[in-house]
Amino acid sequence: MLTFIWAQDRDGYIGKDNTMPWRLPADLQHFKKETDGQTIVMGRKTYESIGKALPNRENIILTRNPNYVLPDAKVVHSKEEILELATEKSVFITGGAEIYQLFLDDADVLIVTHVEAECGGDTRFPAIDWKKWKLIKREDGVRDAKNDLDFWYGWYEKEAK
Ligand SMILES: NC(=O)c1ccc[n+]([C@@H]2O[C@H](COP(=O)([O-])OP(=O)(O)OC[C@H]3O[C@@H](n4cnc5c(N)ncnc54)[C@H](OP(=O)(O)O)[C@@H]3O)[C@@H](O)[C@H]2O)c1
Repeated sequence: MLTFIWAQDRDGYIGKDNTMPWRLPADLQHFKKETDGQTIVMGRKTYESIGKALPNRENIILTRNPNYVLPDAKVVHSKEEILELATEKSVFITGGAEIYQLFLDDADVLIVTHVEAECGGDTRFPAIDWKKWKLIKREDGVRDAKNDLDFWYGWYEKEAK
């Protein structure tokens, strides 16, 4: 099972200057809750933007660099290794844009934070055919002083395999 998890603004932006274009601690908590104890896969650039493996999760980093070694994460070099793993257990694809693009046709479930604002950025989620996805659950985010934007969480399943 392959699950995508990401946050995007109204224009599909997911990143700016190698970080998120917004400040939404509630979304980071949501991410933590959804992926706690799970296997997460991210691109080398996203790993380096965080600067360390995320705790209490098996972290797998994708790079084409055969000499890349990390003290706190497993490094892999091919999509196939991840797909193989996803036949055995639940795997979360956690970005960034290149990695979402790479697995777009393989995703089974999407967990999306929709930030209802135009935040701008330099990295967008790849073109996705939303007609192929069915919203199965939605939950509104709570706007407050620390999370000063409208946002909601959507869980989607593929309409047809
Ligand atoms: N809003 C969100 O939910 C969210 C989530 C995650 C990330 N982001 C944002 O997204 C941005 C980063 O995204 P990005 O697209 O620039 O980078 P990325 O997807 O994190 O990483 C790209 C790197 O992945 C490796 N890679 C790509 N395809 C590969 C393949 N087929 N096989 C092996 N390795 C492969 C390459 O590493 P090498 O160059 O080392 O070969 C490539 O440079 C940042 O702004 C980040 O904050 C946002």
